[in-house]
Amino acid sequence: MFRTHTCGELRLANKGKEVTLSGWVQTVRKFGSITFIDLRDRYGITQLLFAENLNNQLEANPIGREYVLQVNGSVNERSNKNANIPTGDIEILVSSFTILNKAVTPPFTIQDDTDGGDDIRMKYRFLDLRRNAVKKNLELRYSVNRSARNYLHENNFMDIETPFLIKSTPEGARDFVVPSRMNPGQFYALPQSPQTFKQLLMVSGYDRYYQVVKCFRDEDLRADRQPEFTQIDCEMSFVEQEDILMMFEGLVKRIFKDVKNIDYTDTIERMTWENAMWMYGNDKPDIRFGMKLCNLKFPSHTFSSQTDISALINGADFKVFDEAETVIAIAVPGCSEYTRKQTDELTEWVKRPQIGMKGLVFIKCNTDGTYKSSVDKFYNADRLKAIAEAAGANKGDLILILAGAEERTRKASSELRLYMGQQLGLRRPDEFKLLWVLDFPLFEYAEEENRWVARHHPFTSPKPSDIATMINNNPVIENAAEYLKHPYANIKANAYDMVLNGNEIGGGSIRIFQRELQEKMFAALGMDEAEQQHKFGFLLGAFEYGAPPHGGIAFGFDRLCAILGGSESIRDFIAFPKNNSGRDVMIDAPATIDDKQLTELNIRLAEIEK
Ligand code: AMO
Repeated sequence: MFRTHTCGELRLANKGKEVTLSGWVQTVRKFGSITFIDLRDRYGITQLLFAENLNNQLEANPIGREYVLQVNGSVNERSNKNANIPTGDIEILVSSFTILNKAVTPPFTIQDDTDGGDDIRMKYRFLDLRRNAVKKNLELRYSVNRSARNYLHENNFMDIETPFLIKSTPEGARDFVVPSRMNPGQFYALPQSPQTFKQLLMVSGYDRYYQVVKCFRDEDLRADRQPEFTQIDCEMSFVEQEDILMMFEGLVKRIFKDVKNIDYTDTIERMTWENAMWMYGNDKPDIRFGMKLCNLKFPSHTFSSQTDISALINGADFKVFDEAETVIAIAVPGCSEYTRKQTDELTEWVKRPQIGMKGLVFIKCNTDGTYKSSVDKFYNADRLKAIAEAAGANKGDLILILAGAEERTRKASSELRLYMGQQLGLRRPDEFKLLWVLDFPLFEYAEEENRWVARHHPFTSPKPSDIATMINNNPVIENAAEYLKHPYANIKANAYDMVLNGNEIGGGSIRIFQRELQEKMFAALGMDEAEQQHKFGFLLGAFEYGAPPHGGIAFGFDRLCAILGGSESIRDFIAFPKNNSGRDVMIDAPATIDDKQLTELNIRLAEIEK
């Protein structure tokens, strides 16, 4: 028997017991004639004591870090107890040992605060995974997985696998494709999500489906994106939006309880997409803190229901504001005493290419009730006061104002708000705020192609009240510059995103389930009948055989785990992730394949420029 106990198991109550342990050598410490070894496995660390009688054997068989060792011995009370580990009261007085396997010196220390950089840890990920910090992340991932499965099972959802080798229908990200040897010249695609399959399962009558499933998207990578990632993918029949929101609020709350022991009793806040953009400049706002945007000036066709307050800044001969499409102010609490150096730094920050603004206007709301601004030449104290009031600024606050074209200025304001929130410590990783964002636009305008694309995906249904607008209007955009005035720009989707601390952790929609409306949708996206038939004939056909009303959602499982674990990067929560160039540096993939394989697949490579 390799072991009677694990390395995390023995306590003082086991004193005197004869045991066998197996594990990895964390450290070897020699004190005169005795040797201490910390033996580690998945469950913990136990101290081993090799007394003088084993010295000859140890000299003949030296033991190094990460050796795999088996020891027999008895449980001993430690004289020098270690309160930091659960096994810290005992040690094993070793009677005999076997080296099960040797190890070369690892390229970095297998410790929480390792000396290994990112690249080396990824190359030796199997060693990195031995570290407690990484193990904890995978344990958290598993507990989220278990919690979700339990909840969904209890609610009658059925886990059904869907294929990975499917057909390429790029819409959204690019597909990863797989050549077919048996069908020369033809390719499968790996699914970006099981979307059409889960809808077909609804047509088949499996009214509650789920899957914890890999999805594949060939898109540019970021900290929260991987080319292969995992979704908790769900679909339900005979539901309206409200049914879905309630069911999946339940899921997320259950995960909070099971994984973090947090009773998330608040009802999850709901916000329309328009309000999210208006107040936060972003469709996934971080609502852990305030600092809402004050829209001093904005294009009226984008936010037609909002009140125009541009009189506050108009008529002062300040060109920057006069010429801007959008002017947005943010009141940053308690920062009125920022030094020149600090405001200069903020100005540099907004001028960086990623943010792309020309400059930053600021108003200091001094604690004595006076104002000092970078636009004193144009605005007197009364006008500054009026702006400050509109922005919701208090004495002691610093107002930051950005001006420029709508899209860029809104995005920059959102970034600036998040940046200041971070600087002020308002984005605490141990605080969790969930939010539903609702009523997204159904369409987005694709400038290069001068056509509409589906904002979520082409299977999302419009709000029932917008169906007539969709059916009765021609989707063609005659005047590209005025696309926002096209009736399609105002059609709202029956779609919802779940946002956690400023991250989109899930998204879904109520689906179109009638052939005619689905055809209309495809046509609106610029697909003629032949293309519709080629790409989605199977779905259109299925809709003729009794498709029930249905809808669903998919959660980004990796993202959810990362946020619950207090991390920005989903890589830390994936056992074998890819790097930022989409490479697995451990197995060195992707890689070339040999000529024989290429020939079998009927593929000839074009010259690749080095
Ligand atoms: P969507 O494309 O919004 O919806 O994806 C659902 C969730 O998956 C996560 N996610 C990602 N996570 C890591 N890396 C990526 N590259 C990545 N892309 C997306 C996000 C996102 O909210 N079929 C629909 C769902 C539906 O309509 O039911 C879909 O895939 O957290």
